[in-house]
Amino acid sequence: MTISKQKINKFYNMNKTFVLLILAGLSVFSFKPENEPKRQLDPAIEVKITDLLSKMTLDEKMGQLNQYTSHWEMTGPAPKGTSEQQLLEKIKSGLVGSMLNVTGADATRKTQKLAVENSRLKIPMIFGYDVIHGYQTMFPIPLAEASSWEPELARKSARVAAIETAASGIQWTFAPMVDIARDARWGRFMESSGEDPYLGSQFAAARVRGFQGDDLSASNTIAACVKHFAAYGFIEAGREYNTVDISESTLRNVVLPPFKAAADAGALTFMNAFNEIGGTPSTANTHLLRDILKGEWNFDGFVVSDWNSIGELLIHGVAADKKEAAELAIKAGSDMDMEGNCYVPNLKTLVEEGTVDVKVLDDAVRRVLRVKFLLGLFDDPYKYSDENKEKTLILTKENLQAAREAAKRSIVLLKNENQLLPLKKDGQKIVLIGELAADKDVPLGSWRAKAITGSAVSLLEGMKSAVAKPANLTYEKGPVYVSCKSLFTVQLDFNTTDRTGIDEAVAAAKKADVVVLTLGENCFQTGEGRSQTDIKLKGLQQELLEAVCAVNKNVVVVLMNGRPLDISWMANNVSSIVEAWHLGSEAGNAIADVLFGDYNPAGKLPASFPRSVGQVPIYYNHKNTGRPSDGEGNVFWSHYTDSPNDALFPFGYGLSYTTFAYSDLKISSETIAKGEKLEVSVTVKNTGKVAGEEVVQLYIRDLVGSISRPVKELKGFEKIALKSGESKLVRFTLGENDLAFWGLDHKFKAEPGDFKLWVGTNSVEGLETSFKLK
Ligand code: BGC
Repeated sequence: MTISKQKINKFYNMNKTFVLLILAGLSVFSFKPENEPKRQLDPAIEVKITDLLSKMTLDEKMGQLNQYTSHWEMTGPAPKGTSEQQLLEKIKSGLVGSMLNVTGADATRKTQKLAVENSRLKIPMIFGYDVIHGYQTMFPIPLAEASSWEPELARKSARVAAIETAASGIQWTFAPMVDIARDARWGRFMESSGEDPYLGSQFAAARVRGFQGDDLSASNTIAACVKHFAAYGFIEAGREYNTVDISESTLRNVVLPPFKAAADAGALTFMNAFNEIGGTPSTANTHLLRDILKGEWNFDGFVVSDWNSIGELLIHGVAADKKEAAELAIKAGSDMDMEGNCYVPNLKTLVEEGTVDVKVLDDAVRRVLRVKFLLGLFDDPYKYSDENKEKTLILTKENLQAAREAAKRSIVLLKNENQLLPLKKDGQKIVLIGELAADKDVPLGSWRAKAITGSAVSLLEGMKSAVAKPANLTYEKGPVYVSCKSLFTVQLDFNTTDRTGIDEAVAAAKKADVVVLTLGENCFQTGEGRSQTDIKLKGLQQELLEAVCAVNKNVVVVLMNGRPLDISWMANNVSSIVEAWHLGSEAGNAIADVLFGDYNPAGKLPASFPRSVGQVPIYYNHKNTGRPSDGEGNVFWSHYTDSPNDALFPFGYGLSYTTFAYSDLKISSETIAKGEKLEVSVTVKNTGKVAGEEVVQLYIRDLVGSISRPVKELKGFEKIALKSGESKLVRFTLGENDLAFWGLDHKFKAEPGDFKLWVGTNSVEGLETSFKLK
């Protein structure tokens, strides 16, 4: 890192001769958007872009569509095409419109200078980085945060992340990831908001608003990048980067809604997915990029490929060489080439020989320039690179406080028999067991941007500061279950046979009033490239769990993980289970807040927990089939012979230290006409002894459609706070849009007929009524 920075300095101080490029192939054109964009285009910006485009050579245009990674930090396979020296030269000649993985006010300023002071047209670069759940102050992984069912919380986390990111010179995050995830084998489940298009849409839009704020030109707002377009979560067998083959109906009704919500929220950029759909890799998918995104949705920002996804068109077997890959990608609507080395130099030739219309190239360049103008980079290319802000705005007390708030609100209480929780701060001998409990790194999660290694508050630390006397809490590490400390470790080693620590843990458990046992996953067990064939506890964890349960009945398991796990044995054999995911910088404090009742947990699962890996993909909004299970396991019905069909813990599930009763479900009318609204109300009462929050959920089922509809679909939710004994009337309004789906006629519309409606505490329990759409 230091060497590279020195190199940049040296290079920057070298003779700053401008390289005059030959003004060849210059063409003036009139821009015609494919459709009327939603964001009002700023005419002044559009004129400036037209002017700039008229001065640009084909090389310079190509350059704007070219993105390289820095050589000192990489988030994909090492670059083969360009040495560091060549990279710096290319920046100087205007051949690099964007870079990723350049971080820090100093490095971004110096790299930016290379472009702005040396290239002929002085066009600033845009710097992108994967800020997935925080920059240095780490928030819960996105899957965890979705468990809060509070999109506003996600907006706030994204805002803090944007402020920290911008303060270090970066103007663009490759987030939010809005892929629907149904398969727990997939390592990237942790980056998603779970299995539901409605919940996912709310979180997608909220995160875009958080990153982009309400003034794009401010120096603390950054461009969002909605990814991965599209259907990455549907890879066969959950195996990373695998093939996808889904119907247009699944695409439109399940996969795309969160992308559409993010586009409607004004997202400036989109990123391609690595996968193909039905034979066409997303990067070359005209239907996705031109027809839907830039056509139907009037998206006016730009699309960046995923890391070398244009180059991978060769490997998919749809392009014979890089030139053909470039042609397919640019024609399909992929505007910027991330680390593919395909656009430079082929685009120029493709235009010169007439294979690609210059208007296609110009449209892509216009989109990139538009984003740069909107971010204010032409006014001040260095405004994000501010060392002072970098020192004062990152990892502040306030940001950590926000992370703690987000973390505690993301915890889901899965089981709490005999009110074992909350624990007592005094008068109870607690033993905390498990490697993960003292770990200060795992809670930071995967995809952790600039998190400082080992900087999280561990659960041990959190509990120590919560108990009344140090003597109330002891700690036993137990066995080491997995050796993995780096994102780039190729093979994780779960096969340890070293049982050191089990006996000590069991002895301590025997003497304690309550055992708090941490189990789950190492943070690098999840994330990109981390698919698994099994979702059980790895290593010696199950053995440890059973050994501890054999000597103490009061066991609270705290799970730290990044995907739904098979915890069937645990669900039947321990008193309490707290799903704590990977919660970020303040994880230990937040979990302690919940364990000791300083915060009453209110999270709900954003994804079903399967009974075993054999059930995946499992999701609540499945179809009925022609032979739905009769619940008895009779032979010729859709079922398994060795397992129930339903989830161990369903979508929307989560307990509280109090209880809630639902009553008086009312609808404004049993029949509504098209264009009319249905008003729904329900009374929710806190019937327990302590104050708490409840996520009230509304589901519908369209009983007969021109195509079959899911057995349940979430269409509304509200998180409410109730004191003990308090009741509240919760209201929802359903419009035609809420009943609509993409049907056989290739339109989104609601079809007349009968609907069922439920309002309740999760996707399987609720009060039921029905109505008719005329
Ligand atoms: C991932 C993207 C990420 C990109 C840049 C790829 O491997 O799929 O999500 O934004 O790398 O780091």
